[in-house]
This record gives sequence, C-alpha cells and structure tokens, in this order.
Amino acid sequence: MSSPTRRMLVTSALPYANGDIHVGNLVTYIQTDIWVRFQRMRGHEVYFVCGDDAHGTPIMLRAKAEGITPEQLIERVLDEHKRDFDKFSISFDNYYTTHSPENKECSDTIYNAANAKGHIARREIQQAYDPVENMFLPDRFIKGTCPDCGAEDQYGDSCESCGATYSPTELKDAVSVISGVAPIEKASEHLFFKLGDFEHSLREWTQGEGVQTEVTNKLNEWFDAGLRDWDISRDAPYFGFEIPGEKDKYFYVWLDAPIGYMASFKNLCVRDGLHFDDFWKPDSDVELYNFIGKDILYFHTLFWPAMLESAGFRKPTAVFAHGFITVNGTKMSKSRGTFITAQDFGTHLNPELLRYYYAAKMNSRIEDFDLNLEDLLARVNSDLVGKLVNIASRCAGFINKRFAGKLASELDDAGMFASFAAASDSVAAAYESRNFNRAMREIMTLADRANQYINAKQPWVVAKDPDRQAELQMICSQGVNLFRILIGYLAPVLPVLAEKSAKFLHCDLSSKDAWNTLTTPLLGTRIDSFEHLIKRVEQKQIDGLLAALQTNAESTTPEKTGVLADDPIAATINIDEFAKVDLRIAKIIDAQHIEGADKLIQITLDLGGETRTIFAGIKSAYEPDKLIGRLTVVVANLAPRTMRFGVSEGMVLAAGPGGKEIFVLQPDDGARPGMRVK
Ligand code: MSP
Ligand code: ZN
Repeated sequence: MSSPTRRMLVTSALPYANGDIHVGNLVTYIQTDIWVRFQRMRGHEVYFVCGDDAHGTPIMLRAKAEGITPEQLIERVLDEHKRDFDKFSISFDNYYTTHSPENKECSDTIYNAANAKGHIARREIQQAYDPVENMFLPDRFIKGTCPDCGAEDQYGDSCESCGATYSPTELKDAVSVISGVAPIEKASEHLFFKLGDFEHSLREWTQGEGVQTEVTNKLNEWFDAGLRDWDISRDAPYFGFEIPGEKDKYFYVWLDAPIGYMASFKNLCVRDGLHFDDFWKPDSDVELYNFIGKDILYFHTLFWPAMLESAGFRKPTAVFAHGFITVNGTKMSKSRGTFITAQDFGTHLNPELLRYYYAAKMNSRIEDFDLNLEDLLARVNSDLVGKLVNIASRCAGFINKRFAGKLASELDDAGMFASFAAASDSVAAAYESRNFNRAMREIMTLADRANQYINAKQPWVVAKDPDRQAELQMICSQGVNLFRILIGYLAPVLPVLAEKSAKFLHCDLSSKDAWNTLTTPLLGTRIDSFEHLIKRVEQKQIDGLLAALQTNAESTTPEKTGVLADDPIAATINIDEFAKVDLRIAKIIDAQHIEGADKLIQITLDLGGETRTIFAGIKSAYEPDKLIGRLTVVVANLAPRTMRFGVSEGMVLAAGPGGKEIFVLQPDDGARPGMRVK
C-alpha cells in the first residue's frame, strides 16, 4: 500500500571541521542515510542536508598549530569529509559548511529577531582567562570537577557523566588545557539567550512526538532544575561570526551550528529552486527531522527549538538521538588502538559492511553498542555472503547457462513469493521507526527460508534430468526472485550491493517508489551473468586494520596530538580509581614467539587455577624460554583486547626504558599464583 507523499527535510549532526570522520560519527550518518534512502524508496520527497561545523576555538587553535589560516584548515577538512562520506555512500542532497554567507544571514536573522523581542540579556561575567596564552578559555579547554555530581576530569561546559551543563567558572579545580595553568578570572560583558522565556512551549513540544520517551524524562529533570540563560557570545580572538551591532564579540559556535542546517538547506534551495519559507514557516506541513548522538541532546532539544521559536520559525517534527559506540569493548581511543577513522576502515574493509553491521545493531532507543571486529566478520560472512548472496549464486548460473538468461514466466512457488511480499509492511514499519535491527532480523529469517527452499528443491539434481528443464527454470527463477525482493528490502542499507544486483537483474532498486515494485516478481525477463557481488571478509583484513591502528597508536606522541591528546596519563588518580585495578601474581607456564610479530611474545599464565593468554610487548628484552617458570605481576581485570594475533586477556607489568632493558616485575619470595597484590 502506498501512503500519500510526505515532504521531509532531514539533517545529520554537523561534524566538527577539525578532525577525521571516524566510526563513531558514522553512526549518525549511517543511521540517517538508511532512513533517508528508505523514505526515498517509498516515494516520499526528501531533502537530506548536512555540512561541516567550522567555527570555534578548537578549529582556530588547530589552524594556528598547523601554521595555516582557519579558512585553509576548514577548506581542506571539508574535502576530506566529503570524500569519506562518499565512500560510505552517505547520500546528502547538500553538504555545506557553517562558515557560509547563508549561515551568517540566518544566524543574524535569528539573533536580531530574538533581540528585538527582548530575549537577549547582557551582563558582565567573570570568565576563565589563560594568563599564559592571553585569551579567554573556551569551555572545552578547561577541565575540572563537575559541580553537580562531582565527576572528575569534565569539560567546562557540560558533564559527560551526569549530562549537566554549566558555565566554566562553576567547575571545581579547573586548569587550562592549553597551558596547564589554573585559569584566572577576568571580567567581560556577554550576551545571553533567555532560554527560560521558552519554558512553556518547550515543555509542550517535548511532551509530544518531538523527542523519544527516554529523552522526555531527561528533559523533565532539566526543566525541574530550571532553565538558565545561555551564554551565546565569545570574545575575540575567536573564529566565527561577529555579532551584529557589537564589537569584538562573536557568536558562540553552538549558536550558529544548528542554524547551519537551515543554511545548508537555503543553499540547496537556490540550486534546486525550492521555497525556503515553505519548509520553515511555523505552520509548515513539511516534516523536519534532526538525527544526532546522545551527547548533543541539550543543544537540540532546548536551545535549538527555542532559537527557532524566538525568530518565528517552525520547530523540528522530531529530534532522533542514538547511543554511542565502543570499539572492541572500549571507548574509542588512539592510544588503545581503537580509534578507527572512516579512512582506516575503508582501506581494509568494504565500507558497506559497516552500514550492515550498524543496521543489524541499531534500534530506535538511545542505547550504546559495541563495534566488535570479529563479530562484524562473523556476521557479514554469515548473513550477507552465506545467506543473502548465496541465494543468487545458487540459482542465477542455471538461468544463464541453460536458459540464455531468461527467467521463467511462472514461479515454482507463488505462495512462498507472496509471503515474502507480505513482509513488506512490517519491514517498512521497522525502518520507519528506526528499528533497523528488527528489519535486518526479518530479512535474514526470510533469507534462511529461501536457502531452505533451494536445499529442498535441489536444482543441481533437477538439472541433470533432461525431462525436468522447465521445472529447473521455475525453481531457479523462484530463487532469483526471492533474492531480488530481499536485496530490495536491504537497498537502504546496502546501496552499492543493491545497485550491482539491480544491474544484473535488469530491474530498478533505487528510484523513487522502488519499494512498491518489489512485490511484483520478475517473470520472463532477462538477467545478466552473475558476477561476484560481495567477497567474504578474511581474518587478514581485520588483522591489517588492527595492525594499522597499532601503528597509529605508536605514532600518537604528545607532540603530534598536542592539546587534543585524547587520553593522556592523568596527573593524579584517586584511591578509588586505583582500587579498581586487580593486580595478581601469575606464573608464566608457557611463552612463545609469534610469527610476524616484531614486539610481542605470547605468554600463557597460571593465575592460581585459571589459565590466561596475554600478548606482551617484551620481545626485545626476553627470549621466551627464559620466562617460563617465573612469577610476575599482572593486571587481571583489564578488558580483553583483540590484537592482530588473538585476544589478550590481561597485562603483564614490566618496567624499563625499552629495548633490552625491559624488566618483568617479579614478586617477592613466598608469592603464589592467584595472590592479590595490595
Ligand atoms: N559539531 C557538533 C554537532 C553540531 S550539530 C548542529 C558535533 N560534532 S562531532 O563531530 O563531535 O559529532 C558528530 C556526530 O557524531 C554527533 O551526532 C555525535 O553524537 C556523533 N558521535 C561522535 N562520537 C560517537 C560515538 N562514539 N558513537 C556514536 N556517535 C558518536 O557534535
Ligand atoms: Zn556531573
């Protein structure tokens, strides 16, 4: 059944213009793109816009560190981001930048309107100032303890632990991340957006369809805590837009960032002859959706709708937030070798596999999930190679060789095809509600049935009987048609594979409305010879990726990452943090060289009854034989880590400058394997 055509404007959070696109960001873009492609296939009118978030101090400082202008930096990064998004088939209708004339215009319009209606306040504030660098410190360049929950090592604007937002001066024990000194306080006049003026309408909006239920609860907490004025100005030096009517004051990057959605769309309007106002007027019938990660909810569910309202624009129909990913069980981190950029992934693995893996894991809730590379390999080999493509490869050959590529004019089991077609509505409902994992499960269950059908019909046996050729053609046509409907259902997730399949099947899987064509079988039409559609993932590809990450990790020196080092060793940790480390005595019961490893030795440990395998980087100092029988100290509760050569289940403690001088730490006499080290 086709529903009336909907008009939609869809956005993904704008990536910062100072870093590479990585597999974490890709959750946002892949989720949005799957949803957008699905909507297009359903025949709806969809505009998908995004762009780089190009302003702010980190970008200014990064450019300075590289000895180039911010404009040069953002231009280069824009090209890199576009290249990465292309590789992952993210089908933006427009990819722009917040450093644009359109964005300046939209930001000024919104600010001026809010100001004219009395929603802007100004007052002098004490602000953190770096006395070494001679600049006011942006929130993200101050770290300290959260004033609300007491979590340590939090940024100056918001707490990753409890989600609170606050001003940097409220942070406890603050230090400048740039110079390392404690910031001093300096007075300066700032402009504030009076968020509290919008409490009533924000409450109304957030109780409706605009946000996920779990967000409504969070928002109620925020409302109950009281909506505070939002500081929207920053003093020079700053890379951004100057505030109209002010001197040396700039819009805070988070003011013009979401307005960047509008600006990117405005840029598209000129190109495509669309009417901007139709999309942004308060009573617009166009649906507006913002896809984001959970970390930027406050900006999107409070500031952004309030800004829109203050200037007489419509609010989003809904803001869709997703959870965060970890990689192989840990927070993405360069030094741990789990920071996978889009480039890294694409060099070693087919980008489309990440789309499938994410789809298989994503639902409509804000749940975190893990990108585990071994699991990815197992899943895509089993689902896409073993189940899906196998259907086509088992049937298409006969159609080509025996029937000159012509499909039968009748299916062998029309009832079965009809049941595949009947799944169209529930698969569509799963896509619509962003429960992609449910869609993938339904599709793979059908793929299993298709394979069972082929197993039962045994076309390779039928093929040997000259009297059963018509039957053979019908069986194989059935298989090809089952494959087609399934790859059609998967087209939003696997656009490249769908495109290749459409070419070989001589059908259309990408056009507007293609979804509705899926339920009609291909009968009596021709197909091309079957080319390999997708290759198995080999363990060596995963190994190659992990090895590259290891190399990145080794080259991640403080000089290279500078102030943006993503997990430096903490200057101090407290006793509670230390108490979490489970140190045990272990006996080395075996030690082996590993083929192809430059630094690692594989060690088998006895932890008092429990045996563990650990890969230790001590090859330069020890011959494996010399280690066997010795006692050592291990970190027993280190999360298992997938390395090139296998999973390492802990860490052996050693000390020394490196090379030949690495000393495995030995416990005193009387220690027994399994003993706790206190
Ligand atoms: N520039 C802001 C967004 C401005 S929107 C007006 C920003 N940029 S970002 O580059 O840090 O993040 C881009 C997107 O990636 C966001 O949706 C963010 O939530 C998402 N993610 C970044 N790391 C992520 C994970 N580890 N996991 C899942 N999503 C993650 O925020
Ligand atoms: Zn907190």
